[in-house]
Amino acid sequence: MRTPLIAGNWKMNGSTALVEAFGKVFSQPGLPVNVDVTIHPPFPYLEAARRAFADTRLTLGAQTLNPLHSGAHTGEVSGGMLKELGVEYVLIGHSERRKLYRESDDHVCDRVLAALSAGIKPILCVGETLEERDAGRTMEVVLQQVGHVMAPLEPAQRARLAIAYEPVWAIGTGRTATPEQAQEVMAGIRHYQAGYDEELAQQLRLLYGGSMNAKNAAELLAQPDIDGGLVGGASLKAEDFYAICQSAG
Ligand code: G3H
Repeated sequence: MRTPLIAGNWKMNGSTALVEAFGKVFSQPGLPVNVDVTIHPPFPYLEAARRAFADTRLTLGAQTLNPLHSGAHTGEVSGGMLKELGVEYVLIGHSERRKLYRESDDHVCDRVLAALSAGIKPILCVGETLEERDAGRTMEVVLQQVGHVMAPLEPAQRARLAIAYEPVWAIGTGRTATPEQAQEVMAGIRHYQAGYDEELAQQLRLLYGGSMNAKNAAELLAQPDIDGGLVGGASLKAEDFYAICQSAG
């Protein structure tokens, strides 16, 4: 049985006040016992979040990392630094980073390896554009992105990874993939993983991302191969995000 994981990606949004609001809302009882929750604020809020979330079930996540340990890389943050702050999960290969910061599959792979060696669990983000979907290339694109990262990993490393399927056309657009569309791709990813190791494939957590909100979360999360969500816009209001987490139990 896979424990659902709900991840809130604040992207370049948020404030100390938002961190505190989350600390307050998530200190209420009422979260299902079998759900993991992680918040990925911008780097400057990680320390405040660590303190504000101390008595809650919220864990800390980062939005990216640099694959190197240290050095002359102005503006970058390494896995070791994140680990020291208590970060448990890191998003890698988000479509915004692939597009806006030209992160290739090789860059994504390097970051996954760096996260694993720092003891942080990577959430690998994959997904097709609308043009790719319309051309019937969804599974090809998604499995290429997954395979590029999975191929060089040892089984023990694969076991620490979660995968977020985020159709690019559904991100921030209000246009959610239907539960059937999302399930079809998730099942394809799990089937692909089973080619490496059936047991690991059954343990792999697959998250859906793309305009998930308090209204549509339950239906998406009810799909057999959807084990959680990567939530952007709806993770910027503590009550809405709490409601999404409640529907994951
Ligand atoms: O990382 C989160 C995803 O990009 C989804 O964002 O919920 O605003 O569509 P969204």
